[in-house]
Amino acid sequence: MKKEWWHGKVAYQIYPKSFYDANGDGIGDLRGIIEKLDYLKNLGVDIIWISPVYRSPFVDQGYDIADYYDIDPVFGTMADMEELLEETKKRDMYVLMDLVVNHCSDQHEWFQKALADPEGEYRDYFYFREGKENGEPPCNWRSYFGGSVWEKVPGTDNTYYFHAFSKEQPDLNWENPVVRRKIYEMMNWWLDKGLAGFRIDAIINIKKDLRFADFPADRPDGLCSISNMLRQAQGVGDFLTEMRDATFRPHHAFSVAEAFDIKDGEMPLFVGDEGYFSSIFDFSTEILGHTEKGWYAIPDSSVTLVRDTLYESQAQMGDHGFFCNIVENHDEPRGASRYLPPEGQNDYGKKLLAVTMFMRRGLPFLYQGQELGMTNCPFDSIEQIDDIFTRDEYRTALDAGLSPREALQSVCRFSRDHARTPMQWDGSAHAGFSRNTPWLQVNPNFREINAAAEERDPDSVLQFYKALIALRKNPLYADTIVYGSFEPILREEDNLYAFYRRSHQQSLLVLANCQNRELTVTLPEEGYDTVLLNNYKVFQKTGRKISLLPFQAVILA
Ligand code: GLC
Ligand code: CA
Repeated sequence: MKKEWWHGKVAYQIYPKSFYDANGDGIGDLRGIIEKLDYLKNLGVDIIWISPVYRSPFVDQGYDIADYYDIDPVFGTMADMEELLEETKKRDMYVLMDLVVNHCSDQHEWFQKALADPEGEYRDYFYFREGKENGEPPCNWRSYFGGSVWEKVPGTDNTYYFHAFSKEQPDLNWENPVVRRKIYEMMNWWLDKGLAGFRIDAIINIKKDLRFADFPADRPDGLCSISNMLRQAQGVGDFLTEMRDATFRPHHAFSVAEAFDIKDGEMPLFVGDEGYFSSIFDFSTEILGHTEKGWYAIPDSSVTLVRDTLYESQAQMGDHGFFCNIVENHDEPRGASRYLPPEGQNDYGKKLLAVTMFMRRGLPFLYQGQELGMTNCPFDSIEQIDDIFTRDEYRTALDAGLSPREALQSVCRFSRDHARTPMQWDGSAHAGFSRNTPWLQVNPNFREINAAAEERDPDSVLQFYKALIALRKNPLYADTIVYGSFEPILREEDNLYAFYRRSHQQSLLVLANCQNRELTVTLPEEGYDTVLLNNYKVFQKTGRKISLLPFQAVILA
């Protein structure tokens, strides 16, 4: 594998609306990010990914872009963006923006022009189709946020346009070479401005099966999951190769894709030296138990199942590329609430989660607040939830016969708003996020869990993350942690993460006892007496026998 500039780095996702509000309107902004760059630098972060800040009507929180060349006034101006790029450069940091090009906003001028003139060139920038003879939409696929993927064009009898997400997010027609060229131009414009690359949104969706054929319905709404079509669509690779060669390659840019639905055996096409992207996120545990029925029907998964799933991902990737490893992002609940059993939802457990994430092979991608151990927010009414996706899943649960209380409880396990509550900077009003009432409520635990308190406390989750990042960058171990192989051991032991990271020079051992009881195991090899990191003060090892306290995690050399 060729060595790349980003291999040893640590990345961090910023959800700008909720990061830091510098001008006091209750919404985070670009100046807020600039003000907190030193905090990020001090944590050890190199690369930041900023969720969309382009001009948008915010139907899907900025993932509906009305102008790719402009910053939404709620976040600031293009001058602020340029300053942010300069300030990061001064600190040897890199910025990724979100690339949302499967769709745009219905307010984008291309779509407005397409609506205005059915004969004009913009019509072919989107998918406009006639409905069936009986007046039904062209096919029965369900959009991700509920309802048909087809929306009737206002003022027509039977003409529809396609949207995989909400009806305000019309899909761009990637079959049209002019559209593709305009997208690449836009990407290069940003890369020339000094971006280090992109996080690429929902990219598998850009290739449709143009037969637009029906599939058997899988819910009472008579519609079917769009994944049926994605599994059949052929040729996304041609678009992705073209995009890579026209944009990322010439800029040595870093690209990480949000890519679900990759077909079996196709991983090597996506990442690695000749891959379409630098990396993709490991979403294997995010999609565990997913069913066409909806969130309410997803069973809880056990610690051991999550562990084995992550091991499988590691094996699937092998050494031909890197995953980006996460425990949460802006589309998921907080990892500390999701992946830890209730008895482990404390600082020990959170540090354990950090170890298992950072020590797997791949690029660690923190999500804002994860380094503080932020948790899910106790929403007690659907009215407190802003997220379009959660609201739709709530309706789906009601349709399936759950009571309003049950429906709320079941969708709150996965609500995207848990990750979107404001960042907890300190114990003052609004968690120090804003001078005014924030756009989304603050998690009531902000007086205990916040950056200022954790900076002062040597045993905090934040300090532990700093130590973990410092270890990853320590020249004595960096090569093994970044490039070393990943080799699980003691797999028969439930609730235990145990794996080697090995290089030619060195072998490290990671142990994490993810349960509420002490566990004693016998290591297959001698050695490993040097403790590099430990979430407890005690370390109990005699010969090859090692005892781990509840939720203890250690890194040994
Ligand atoms: C991606 C984004 C998500 C958004 C969707 C549509 O999944 O991460 O937040 O809603 O794409 O753009
Ligand atoms: Ca603001």
